[in-house]
Amino acid sequence: MLKIAIVTGSTRPGRNNEAVASWVYRLAKERKDAEFELVDVASYNLPVYDEPIPPLFGQYSHEHTKAWSDKIGSFDAYVFVTPEYNHSTSGALKNAIDYLYREWNNKAAGFVSYGGHAGGARAVEHLRLIMAEVMVATVRAQVLLSLYADFESFRTFKPGPQREKEVHVMLDQLIAWGGALKSLRAEAAEEAAVAGE
Ligand SMILES: Cc1cc2nc3c(=O)[nH]c(=O)nc-3n(C[C@H](O)[C@H](O)[C@H](O)COP(=O)(O)O)c2cc1C
Repeated sequence: MLKIAIVTGSTRPGRNNEAVASWVYRLAKERKDAEFELVDVASYNLPVYDEPIPPLFGQYSHEHTKAWSDKIGSFDAYVFVTPEYNHSTSGALKNAIDYLYREWNNKAAGFVSYGGHAGGARAVEHLRLIMAEVMVATVRAQVLLSLYADFESFRTFKPGPQREKEVHVMLDQLIAWGGALKSLRAEAAEEAAVAGE
């Protein structure tokens, strides 16, 4: 059974993210074809990237990095729930991604975004570029939520009736790709064991 993390994309006090991520998690848990866990970036208290050695080498000096690495490394795939901040994702999520490298490799990701007129589309486009660098395959289906149509007064989350289906279509693709990449992850783990890593 694949293990999939629903990753929060905002650490802002009063964030809309909590309601959106909890909703995705609730829908995901209805499924029997994967296991899901809500991973809240905020609870890892990651400072602005402060490791002396680039993450490619996996030599972490801080407890916050080791805890984040252990958590992220334990999943096969990810759903990033991201707001749009200045036509990109949040600094907090980019920072959390930057902390790690191999933990992300050969896995799959899907996106749920929210924002004004573009529904967070520009945040997801940036995330797709970032994911390519950490060797994560991103699925086509995505859920774009509008602060105008899917929230009341930009604050109370009331997703439109079509949204649940959109989440499941994205999860269908994510589970398929997360499963397809399993053999690559096994190969990489074998090579690392031979190299004594
Ligand atoms: C610093 C900042 C920049 C923002 N930039 C954009 C933007 O470029 N496009 C957009 O659609 N919404 C933008 N917004 C609105 C956010 O998408 C909206 O406030 C959302 O609720 C933020 O997510 P959060 O509440 O989970 O932190 C911005 C909000 C902030 C705080």
